[in-house]
Amino acid sequence: MTILVTGGAGFIGSNFVLDWIRTNGEPVINLDALTYAGNLANLASLQGNNAHHFVRGSIADGETVGQLLRDNAVRAVVHFAAESHVDRSISGPAPFFETNVMGTLHLLEAVKAYVGTLDADSKAGFRFLHVSTDEVYGTLTKDEPPFAETNPYKPNSPYAASKASSDHIVRAYHETFGLNTIVTNCSNNYGPLQFPEKLIPLIIHNALKGKDLPIYGDGLQVRDWLYVGDHCSAIRRVLEAGKPGETYNIGGDNQKTNIEVVKRICALLDAKRPKADGSSYTSQITHVTDRPGHDRRYAIDARKIESELGWTPEADFDGGIEKTVDWYLNNESWTAEVTSGAYRDWIARQYA
Ligand code: NAD
Ligand code: DAU
Repeated sequence: MTILVTGGAGFIGSNFVLDWIRTNGEPVINLDALTYAGNLANLASLQGNNAHHFVRGSIADGETVGQLLRDNAVRAVVHFAAESHVDRSISGPAPFFETNVMGTLHLLEAVKAYVGTLDADSKAGFRFLHVSTDEVYGTLTKDEPPFAETNPYKPNSPYAASKASSDHIVRAYHETFGLNTIVTNCSNNYGPLQFPEKLIPLIIHNALKGKDLPIYGDGLQVRDWLYVGDHCSAIRRVLEAGKPGETYNIGGDNQKTNIEVVKRICALLDAKRPKADGSSYTSQITHVTDRPGHDRRYAIDARKIESELGWTPEADFDGGIEKTVDWYLNNESWTAEVTSGAYRDWIARQYA
């Protein structure tokens, strides 16, 4: 048996591939286009491991996808590949619709054609797990209950709109073509191997470089943080026991304001890597212009995955963020490698 993972050189995808091979061992075909966000260094520890087969290619290339599915008798697809950064979707929306919408459509077409050739048992056992986001539900006020699977879709950013579209297409392939699809909608992930354009690794990186720590607007926006290892265990569980045609929300029950998160990182760095002049990293905090259409609050109601599949997260925020800060302190060469040319151009434009 083999699974096909798309986007397995990105942040969550590479954590998932490493976790899958460690805990399950079933072979993985890892299809990734290696955009700026994909990094083979994330998978260096799998070099020489026959359970991991990396293929550079796009989910939009139906011929390649079809061949990989057939040649490896794939039994499940876990679909991570996407353009994933909200700010980039605001400065340039088109790639988000090309990859997240049209790419997912082409991928589904190739999968549908392949599944059509399988015998009845293999067809019934086949799974297409689409990894999506809580951002499809829009934003919450301070007192609204967390997002449940029954919440209406109200995406606010081009990124969220593209993921919402892809969720609808995946659902349609279940309803119309009988493909065994499942959608997961997850809250903000953090942990090792996250590209330093996202809040937590950006703050750690900038702090260590003596740069400003940019807080959009008042910094009181709330995110529900989930340690990436817990997202991986949730996906494994959904793949194993989730019901085709269903959606499962995944969250960490860790609602924090951005300013709380940034101050927590500063406190950890103050203790672990004190600044030479004795000042706190908090002195680098700078409030900058807010993100247009900035969602105020996300929070996930994860009762369905808990009651139906018995999944709960293991990491609490204090433990998870300390592990994360430690990882970045111990892997500064990883960050140095990914913050080269193209990254610096983006940061210069975004924070000008
Ligand atoms: P990421 O940006 O770190 O990685 C995306 C990966 O997809 C990269 O390796 C990139 O090279 C690859 N990719 C892009 N276009 C491709 C294409 N056309 N064909 C093949 N590969 C392509 O993203 P991430 O943060 O790891 O997110 C992974 C998935 O999880 C995304 O679908 C995202 O929407 C979803 N998600 C992310 C979070 C989060 O907090 N990061 C939370 C919930 C859901
Ligand atoms: O909720 C899940 C989503 O979480 C995923 O679907 C996305 O792929 C992922 O990027 C993430 O989206 P966010 O926009 O919430 O994450 P980001 O790390 O970009 O920002 C987190 C919060 O921090 C958000 O309120 C914006 C704020 N922020 C971000 C950056 C990069 C700042 O205040 N300053 C910054 O420099």
